[in-house]
Amino acid sequence: MPTDLPLHDDHIRSRFQALDRFLLDHQTLWRPRPFTHLQLPWESQHAELATWLRQRTLEQAEAAHNQPERLIAPQPFSQLAAESIKLSSVGPLPATTLESVEARMSVDVPGRKWQQIEAFASRLQFQHPPTHWLDWCAGKGHLGRRLAHQGQALTCLEYNPDLVAAGAQLSTRLGINASHLHQDVMADDTHQRLNAQHTPIALHACGDLHVQLIKLASHAGCAQLAIAPCCYNRINASEYQPLSQEAQTSALKLSIDDLGLPLSETVTAGARVRRQRDTSMARRLAFDLLQRELRGVDDYLPTPSLPAAWLDKPFADYCQHLAALKELPAIPKQDWAALEARGWQRLAQVRNLELLRNLFRRPLELWLVLDRALYLQDKNYDVRTGTFCEPHLTPRNLLILSELK
Ligand SMILES: C[S@@+](CC[C@H](N)C(=O)[O-])C[C@H]1O[C@@H](n2cnc3c(N)ncnc32)[C@H](O)[C@@H]1O
Repeated sequence: MPTDLPLHDDHIRSRFQALDRFLLDHQTLWRPRPFTHLQLPWESQHAELATWLRQRTLEQAEAAHNQPERLIAPQPFSQLAAESIKLSSVGPLPATTLESVEARMSVDVPGRKWQQIEAFASRLQFQHPPTHWLDWCAGKGHLGRRLAHQGQALTCLEYNPDLVAAGAQLSTRLGINASHLHQDVMADDTHQRLNAQHTPIALHACGDLHVQLIKLASHAGCAQLAIAPCCYNRINASEYQPLSQEAQTSALKLSIDDLGLPLSETVTAGARVRRQRDTSMARRLAFDLLQRELRGVDDYLPTPSLPAAWLDKPFADYCQHLAALKELPAIPKQDWAALEARGWQRLAQVRNLELLRNLFRRPLELWLVLDRALYLQDKNYDVRTGTFCEPHLTPRNLLILSELK
């Protein structure tokens, strides 16, 4: 089954079913988050693997984080890694060479974003040439402008008024005839913005926002659309609302926490940012040990996100202020240095234990993307799903191309 081709036709359904089985069969391995458990439910069953992961360092975890499938670890790790690779394999959509545009088109666009836009645009091959692009959650409309430079019409929908104004100004300056409309795409009147002549495009519209597009565009009879989803966990509902019949009848029910798993891959951050992130997590893990003692309850206690300045406080103050915030009992005399060190030790363990969970990151993402693809197939679209760029440009590199039959 491994393929370096995009998924198309019946392969979408058969791959979805295989992913569904894989995710259901191993739920006990990927659902519990090491961050919130002192001991994971699977550790007793796979003791050799658990012990092996727990003795590794933070640096070793970091090195394996983005490609856990490559780690040689005790079973069942290697076997699951092989299955994960097989089930996640999906090739690039064919690319065309884009006509180059004036360099000033990309002024104001951060370098990586422009590369994503170029990659996305180069994959848009449709039977019928688009006449009117509809850039969905467009920001300043950079993607739409990149595509509409040959005189096709362009409408950009965006709800941040500053981005709408900045986008309109850029289009005028570049001589591109575009309408930048202020629109909350979740509002009841949004359907009025779509018609069958539009070719909607959405680069990284979050959870509900791109799902809304899929529903409205298929209802409006848009002849073609292209969507690169992201932030599957940004939804209003309290749990995942499957779109396709297959997903609706699957036993796999996904919580908001589960939906965050595909997003846990990190784009390489600088040393300072990494250190800050690690310090924050090590402190939280140390505080978690303390709060279990203070409350006499051996359970994780969610804490709010804290301003970065909290990391400049001495560790004892950090714990005392957080305990006060959570209205916990007074803290008895502590060996703060020892508690802080236990936080760092736990961080190394958590990050290594997470590697097993991370084997399910891409399979879960593909399951979610294929749910969208299957929904569109059911609405009479011919759908192709593949990558539009390498993951170092963006880990959210899957694109769904749909054309009405
Ligand atoms: C991740 S950005 C992507 C922007 C652009 N497509 C790009 O790739 O640069 C998501 C955009 O959606 C906009 N947005 C968020 N919620 C929205 C809503 N309810 N209606 C319209 N736009 C929304 C945000 O303001 C932001 O510009």
